[in-house]
Amino acid sequence: MSLAQVSILEDQTAQATSVSQTESTLTPIIHRPRRLRRTETLRRLVREATLRVEDLIYPLFVMEGEGQREEVPSMPGCYRYTLDLLLAEVKEAYELGIGAIALFPLIPYSQKDNAGTESYNPNGLVPRAVQAIKQAVPDILLITDVALDPYSSEGHDGIVQDGKILNDETVAVLVKQALVQAEAGADFVAPSDMMDGRVGAIRKALDAEGWINVGILAYSAKYASAYYGPFRDALDSAPKFGDKKTYQMDAANAREAIKEVDLDIAEGADILMVKPALAYLDIIFQIKQHTHLPVAAYNVSGEYAMIKAAAQQGWIDEKKVVLETLTSMKRAGADLILTYFAKDVALLLH
Ligand code: PBG
Repeated sequence: MSLAQVSILEDQTAQATSVSQTESTLTPIIHRPRRLRRTETLRRLVREATLRVEDLIYPLFVMEGEGQREEVPSMPGCYRYTLDLLLAEVKEAYELGIGAIALFPLIPYSQKDNAGTESYNPNGLVPRAVQAIKQAVPDILLITDVALDPYSSEGHDGIVQDGKILNDETVAVLVKQALVQAEAGADFVAPSDMMDGRVGAIRKALDAEGWINVGILAYSAKYASAYYGPFRDALDSAPKFGDKKTYQMDAANAREAIKEVDLDIAEGADILMVKPALAYLDIIFQIKQHTHLPVAAYNVSGEYAMIKAAAQQGWIDEKKVVLETLTSMKRAGADLILTYFAKDVALLLH
């Protein structure tokens, strides 16, 4: 039997339904893309995007106290750790090959105010955590978040006046926060607030204080997104009024992301971030085409929660969906991925 005959036999359904079947099947098929998909070894050889444990940044929640961890209800498998337990978690992550963590604090309500004063307390939770982690796991890259929301009594990323978020006054506080974090030993500061001009102001202040090697991971294209819900549960940081649409970006805009990126590059950003990731893969792609800087994608809390919830119902295969999702971010152009799945992925890739 000739190959053409074999393929005719294989395609009996099509044959039965199509009148011109004989003619088209007998036309020689020059390109057979399936040839490169025949075996796993071959697929591996021609694979375009690869997810590596080296690409991952593990976001972690820290809280005051000792000997405790609390699971975040809307993020099963994610915990807020007291500092002592956080150190063990960081060690474990580092041993799994994860090279970087991003820290987020749960601040007691009694320490919150409109100006986010606690954000630049040199003895605050984040500076203490940074110092302790640097001592316990010196080689892990430590990224601290710069924004007021965990410290704000209003649950906003900036200072509120008459229901509006003040830009320049907020930037002045963010600069103090970044300096305290650098002083404590942060390797990168990551402004996630979306105030105008904050990257430039932080860069200038870091340089003036001699922190020339402290980098800036800029949340450049950060959208006003409902996907942050579980994160705000984790930190008890949801806005007390309104939303974040006067500072975070409109989900409908792509060109504006390029504008934000250009500004952040001009102001001295070292790494650019897109957030959320999954609903914004086109933005990751465009930014990657546009810049030579490393691009990070934030696989945010809501993306995590959706996968966890469906998997708990037995509706999807969690491991496969996680790998597929994060690989799509790499394919879109992300060099780095912040993900709450970091440890799971490290184990899966081993
Ligand atoms: C706050 C901040 C948020 C996240 C990271 N930093 C929430 C927000 O902007 O309201 C969200 C992360 C996530 O959802 O996983 N500056």
